[in-house]
Amino acid sequence: MINVLLTGANGQLGTCLQKKVNQFPKISLDAKNSSELNLLKFDEVEAYFQNYQPDFCVNAGAYTQVDLAEDEAKKAFSINAEAVEHLAKMCAKYNCKLIHISTDYVFDGKKKSPYLETDLTGPINAYGASKLIGEKAIETHLEAHYILRTSWLYSDVGKNFFTSMKNLLNKGTQLKIVTSQKGCPTNAYHLAEVILKLIEKAEVAYGIYHFSNSEATTWYAFTKEIARLIEVDEDLVLPTQHYPTKAERPENSVLSCAKIENALGYKIADWKTALSELK
Ligand SMILES: NC(=O)c1ccc[n+]([C@@H]2O[C@H](COP(=O)([O-])OP(=O)(O)OC[C@H]3O[C@@H](n4cnc5c(N)ncnc54)[C@H](OP(=O)(O)O)[C@@H]3O)[C@@H](O)[C@H]2O)c1
Repeated sequence: MINVLLTGANGQLGTCLQKKVNQFPKISLDAKNSSELNLLKFDEVEAYFQNYQPDFCVNAGAYTQVDLAEDEAKKAFSINAEAVEHLAKMCAKYNCKLIHISTDYVFDGKKKSPYLETDLTGPINAYGASKLIGEKAIETHLEAHYILRTSWLYSDVGKNFFTSMKNLLNKGTQLKIVTSQKGCPTNAYHLAEVILKLIEKAEVAYGIYHFSNSEATTWYAFTKEIARLIEVDEDLVLPTQHYPTKAERPENSVLSCAKIENALGYKIADWKTALSELK
């Protein structure tokens, strides 16, 4: 068996991983939510590694509130950078491979084509900056790492863009949704599957990988498709060039995902097909 510690287990991705893992009989997942294993409690994290010596750690724990992070930057940095640095050190000390989730928001969004893993980073908000420092800390302290950058993560679990839009549309709320940001929505179950395949495959080269569903779109077109799928009036979704938010977002955050596709021999589904699975 491959013993895997999952941190941040009650979040969106953590929940999807727990639902998917039964399709991977060689993987034994020890799922810890933030009260069972708080990444900020360094002694408790070390005690876990000492006692259980997991083969892999999947870190699905993070500070993820993009707008609030502008006011709570210290909190965002402590979870997304300092706690991640400690986790990387623990993985190095206890011989554990780390799969860490990062974000398209490490980029500034000015590139006109999809972002490669090797492209220059340049976050334009506090959340993205905190996640980038977490990435750098892992690269500094741990060779045995996979950093998976993903974008526009959604599922039927908890509060995310899909569930929020679905609830509002079902109440007949008219929505103004931005057309100015381009990216790729990612079904969190698909990301979970890729993480579990990475663990199972074992010999994939360490480093940074991008993963999203394929085909670029806008939040507006994504929301229209949600409306179509749940069979509510698509005219409830109106386009707007800008929607004021506290944190700035990259205009283009389309990720090129060829590297993970080749490494795993995995065919990435297009975002409309992936979305239709949640109907
Ligand atoms: N959502 C997106 O659109 C998106 C896009 C790109 C990348 N990502 C990345 O994808 C990953 C998963 O995101 P998600 O959508 O699943 O996020 P999520 O639903 O917000 O889950 C994050 C989890 O982290 C936990 N957590 C927070 N502080 C912690 C701590 N100190 N110790 C342990 N756990 C802690 C939270 O627990 P509590 O609720 O108990 O605090 C929560 O369960 C994150 O790394 C995120 O940065 C997300």
